[in-house]
Amino acid sequence: MVEHNSGKEVNELACRHEGELIPSGKREVAGAVNADTCRELIREAIDSLKYSYTPYSGFKVGAALLTKNHKVYKGCNIENASLTPTNCAERTAFFKAVSEGEKEFLAIAIVGGKDGILEDYCSPCGVCRQVMMEFCNPKNFLVILAKSEYDYWIYSLEELLPLGFGPANLTK
Ligand code: THU
Repeated sequence: MVEHNSGKEVNELACRHEGELIPSGKREVAGAVNADTCRELIREAIDSLKYSYTPYSGFKVGAALLTKNHKVYKGCNIENASLTPTNCAERTAFFKAVSEGEKEFLAIAIVGGKDGILEDYCSPCGVCRQVMMEFCNPKNFLVILAKSEYDYWIYSLEELLPLGFGPANLTK
């Protein structure tokens, strides 16, 4: 379903914002994911919103996680009357994938908003960033924050979690 490509195209799409391309040399990290892949992930993340279970906050989040083998795992947030067991969309996607044997990932697209209206970019919470850190190389794992297929920003995990603590810290 997804096509991979050289980094150049991603450098361009990395900065696609409200339909405009903004040049940036900073995002070579993007390596393996092209514009079509990004849009497909965003579509899948938007599709996940319909399953978002949010009787308490009404804030709906959808995520779509791309594995190295080009499979996509979707996730939504799942709230709980006891509040703390609530699971974010990103972690739902990660835990679904890891529970099926996947451990190598390229990118995740995230969308979210009150009542499922995508007015703003939905940035992953700290706990989700830490879960990403467990399985992903922070320098090249991509986090795509989208308002639509045509309006999104791409960050490396390292940008969102600088100096993160991960498995490598335990082996030094
Ligand atoms: N939420 C996510 O699903 N992902 C995030 O990264 C931020 C927050 C969910 C949790 C909760 O159901 C709702 O958004 C409000 O916090």
